[in-house]
Amino acid sequence: MIIASISYKGGVGKSTIAQNLAICFAKSGYKTCIVDADETQATVSWTGVRFEKGIEPPVQSIGMTDHKALVGNVKEQYKNYDIIIIDCPPSLSPIAVKAMYLSHLLLIPLTPRGGSDIWVTEKLLDKYSTIREEKEGGLPAYILINQFEPNLNLHRASLSIIEQLEEEFEVKRLKSVLNKRTAYGEANVRGMGVYEYEDRKAKKEIIALANEILKIGEGL
Ligand SMILES: Nc1ncnc2c1ncn2[C@@H]1O[C@H](COP(=O)(O)OP(=O)(O)OP(=O)(O)O)[C@@H](O)[C@H]1O
Ligand SMILES: [Mg+2]
Repeated sequence: MIIASISYKGGVGKSTIAQNLAICFAKSGYKTCIVDADETQATVSWTGVRFEKGIEPPVQSIGMTDHKALVGNVKEQYKNYDIIIIDCPPSLSPIAVKAMYLSHLLLIPLTPRGGSDIWVTEKLLDKYSTIREEKEGGLPAYILINQFEPNLNLHRASLSIIEQLEEEFEVKRLKSVLNKRTAYGEANVRGMGVYEYEDRKAKKEIIALANEILKIGEGL
């Protein structure tokens, strides 16, 4: 399965989610690789820290920022892996569009901080609708609520607006939600994911997310 972790908006958790899922998938025995399509190469740096520290399982990442080469290179790499996660840049750049064409499933992190997060997602979903129609077999897309703060009225209120997006663009929202937890950042700087870190709640929610995605993958 090829998954794109994608959003038009920066800082919503695309890389965090790609990294944490890659660890869960690798722990479950899937040969997993992250394609880092963002010029900043943050995920490549993260796997570098992981490698230097000898953290098991090692997570492979490959930097691919040339949009012309992306399709061929990912397809070639897919021969070696069960799951590829494409960590996209925060834009609708040509490479992000190619990633959508290539993927079997889109994962769209959304932080429910109000209008701007939601309207930016609308722009991405506009593009997604066009691509889905062109793609044989369609293209399932799932919104993933990230950095959720259940006590904030704004966050709760945003959920109902997101429901409208779901209806308008025929996308689904994952049952799994990732709450705002310092463990995500703390694990990241150590080359780790929350699966391997000390926050049990974070570990539980990332496992639930990984399992939900694997289940969706079975049906594709
Ligand atoms: N659930 C979470 N709880 C707390 N912090 C989080 C969570 N998810 C991500 N973060 C933090 O938010 C910041 C942005 O996350 P990340 O780099 O994954 O976003 P991104 O969408 O990949 O950003 P960019 O568009 O710049 O590539 C990071 O500091 C990360 O540690
Ligand atoms: Mg990123």
